[in-house]
Amino acid sequence: MGRSDARASSHEYGHEAQERLWWNPLTWTRRIWLIVFTVIILIVVAVVGAVVGVRATRGGDDGIDDSYPDYFKLNYTLADTYSGTTFFDKFTYFRDVDPARGHVHYVDPEYAGWFNLTYATEATAIVKVDTTVGPGDEPDASTGRFTVRLESKTQYGPGLFLFDVKHTPHGCATWPALWLADPNNWPFNGEIDIMEAVNQATTGNLMALHTTEGCTMENVRRELTGVPGQGDCHNATNYNTGCTVTGPPATYGAEFNRGGGGIVALEWRREGIRVWVFPRGSASAVTKLPGIGDGAPDPSTWGTPLADFPATRCDMDKHFRNQSIIVNIDLCGYFTEAVWESSGCSPKTCRDYVTETPSAFKDAYWEFGAFQVWQAA
Ligand SMILES: *[C@@H]1O[C@H](CO)[C@@H](O)[C@H](O)[C@H]1NC(C)=O
Ligand SMILES: *[C@@H]1O[C@H](CO)[C@@H](O)[C@H](O)[C@H]1NC(C)=O
Ligand SMILES: *[C@@H]1O[C@H](CO)[C@@H](O)[C@H](O)[C@H]1NC(C)=O
Ligand SMILES: *[C@@H]1O[C@H](CO)[C@@H](O)[C@H](O)[C@H]1NC(C)=O
Repeated sequence: MGRSDARASSHEYGHEAQERLWWNPLTWTRRIWLIVFTVIILIVVAVVGAVVGVRATRGGDDGIDDSYPDYFKLNYTLADTYSGTTFFDKFTYFRDVDPARGHVHYVDPEYAGWFNLTYATEATAIVKVDTTVGPGDEPDASTGRFTVRLESKTQYGPGLFLFDVKHTPHGCATWPALWLADPNNWPFNGEIDIMEAVNQATTGNLMALHTTEGCTMENVRRELTGVPGQGDCHNATNYNTGCTVTGPPATYGAEFNRGGGGIVALEWRREGIRVWVFPRGSASAVTKLPGIGDGAPDPSTWGTPLADFPATRCDMDKHFRNQSIIVNIDLCGYFTEAVWESSGCSPKTCRDYVTETPSAFKDAYWEFGAFQVWQAA
């Protein structure tokens, strides 16, 4: 800008300005100061904006918290085993109305015995739904089919939980799960879903955490092979969806069962929660549970897990406590019915299907080898 232009423009600010020397700030009016100040602010904003913009496109500042917990090796010792003919003695049988609004009656050990819904040998433990009661029977299953929900009597703190899973339940109307929770203090003491699926279970294993407010996987660095879904674990977000990770189809259902299932491992510790599914007979790290003399399992050598819920933005000690191991097979219920049609299960309603088709539940059973709970010394 030339000197004469500056003079010309200064005319606009009135007669007084003409007496002032434009290059001498001591002679400036408040109005000129304001304009100069505004121009400086605009330049600063433009420069900062450009720098941030360039960084964002380079991926240097994408809002992800780059810190990641150190899942260092822990020295685990065996704390508990569920196996053999006493497998079910370590569980209570849930008897209340289903909180998930399924079309079921959760029965006690006596009924479970009569209907052969829980059955254990030295080698396996089987959990089934009733496949005998049909429309002509008295009573029939019009108010719900018999099934079980087992909750371990022992409640656990952090540890490594190994499950030998030989068969996962599947089929239209089923909603099975293998999970951890404190049934009397939900969601305050948290919930960890290790295996879960609904209906035909062809979309892979669903893993999730459910908590009170303040636990999230949003904008957090994670190392996992599964596909993350919702990031917020808070039970009140999206009707208790939880923070989720889904595995490939081979991690649950018919495809998982075909190979004889596998070993499912949950590591819950201050640094985070991780899940691995190791198919039986694969070359993966763990294809059977450790026996005497095998030494302690060491997840730090197992490679990238299927699911990873790091503690970066979730205080694990605060959100997870006193967890029981829970095994159940629900039928219908809000989750199953919400995806009933998209799962290819219509035209009957879920409830009618459960009432009228006992033979449909032949594949609706869990078969387990043993469970082991390892805790850090
Ligand atoms: C595990 O045991 C080894 C050998 O005794 C020891 O050096 C290491 O500090 C232990 N690790 C932890 C986390 O306690
Ligand atoms: C109970 O179920 C198991 C496993 O499916 C089966 O092997 C056994 O024969 C059944 N027992 C009776 C009495 O039906
Ligand atoms: C979430 O938990 C709170 C208790 O903290 C409970 O009142 C609420 O009903 C729960 N919401 C859902 C959708 O589960
Ligand atoms: C966990 O369980 C123990 C033993 O039953 C109990 O004393 C404690 O209050 C529980 N803690 C929480 C946070 O629920």
